[in-house]
Amino acid sequence: MYTQSFSVPDNAGQKSARTPSTENPELMAAFDARIDADGRIEPQDWMPEAYRKTLVRQISQHAHSEIVGMLPEGNWISRAPSLKRKAILIAKVQDEGGHGLYLYSAAETLGTSRDQMLEGLHSGKAKYSSIFNYPTLNWADVGVIGWLVDGAAIMNQIPLCRCSYGPYARAMVRVCKEESFHQRQGYEALLVMMQGTEAQRAMVQDAVNRLWWKCLAMFGPPDADSPNSAQGMRWGIKRISNDELRQKFIDATVPQAKVLGVTLPDPDLKWNEERQHHDYGQIDWQEFWNTVEGNGPCNKERLATRVKAHNDGQWVRDAALAYTRKQQQRAQKEAA
Ligand SMILES: [Fe+2]
Ligand SMILES: [Fe+2]
Repeated sequence: MYTQSFSVPDNAGQKSARTPSTENPELMAAFDARIDADGRIEPQDWMPEAYRKTLVRQISQHAHSEIVGMLPEGNWISRAPSLKRKAILIAKVQDEGGHGLYLYSAAETLGTSRDQMLEGLHSGKAKYSSIFNYPTLNWADVGVIGWLVDGAAIMNQIPLCRCSYGPYARAMVRVCKEESFHQRQGYEALLVMMQGTEAQRAMVQDAVNRLWWKCLAMFGPPDADSPNSAQGMRWGIKRISNDELRQKFIDATVPQAKVLGVTLPDPDLKWNEERQHHDYGQIDWQEFWNTVEGNGPCNKERLATRVKAHNDGQWVRDAALAYTRKQQQRAQKEAA
């Protein structure tokens, strides 16, 4: 999963300054013309520094969200109710790890290093999707994460397949295909539970109640409070506004909830004939920002788990480097 619509400034992962963009009007004009023609910008192309920084921030936040997103569901691998569910969940969590790796690679093409990005994450400077700072309390949470969290991620990420930065756009094509599997497996798991016992149905409803509003917040602050969105749109990084994406997600989810037999916990949620969309209630933005700023229920636990996993993996990185050195020495000896 992921996704980051919110434009949260952090200083993580930004490369040292290259030639300031405004100094060369000819290069700037060529860049603008390519963007206006809906063309792609590739790593070797000149780009304004602000465009590069925006992408480094967005892609690294996205990568971090994929990696941290492995944790709440990873907690359930050992407790999955059947071999089938365990195999599906392992595959899904592994996919998320893969998404993180494509995205770190895409960000690296902008001149930032993996170490810089990881340092930003591990020190708490860099942001990631706030949804992963909530606990997964019962097995239905895993299904609801697939259905709603991955569902929201798909809504956010499909337009990114047309992002103006080539490596990001191409990474998103594969990511979206895998997210679609994640969404379906979650929905299917919930359907099975809803056909089960009263206790199982109550677990699903409880998970929906706890996660619904957090999923709506995943699309980021309202357009009126997203000053960076217009620039992102101008650059072809962002194609659809936060509020529009949120609306699309709600409109798509309401009929799915009906089929499932769950209630979405919003008394103001109703079809508006005039707008041809669903109206919905107020999102608690204070809670959202509080969580983004590191004070959600699981922020500290998630970061600590991530840092420990990174440190525990040091021997793997050391072994890979030692192996590469050995190969190089052998190649040199053979060439001599
Ligand atoms: Fe996913
Ligand atoms: Fe993902």
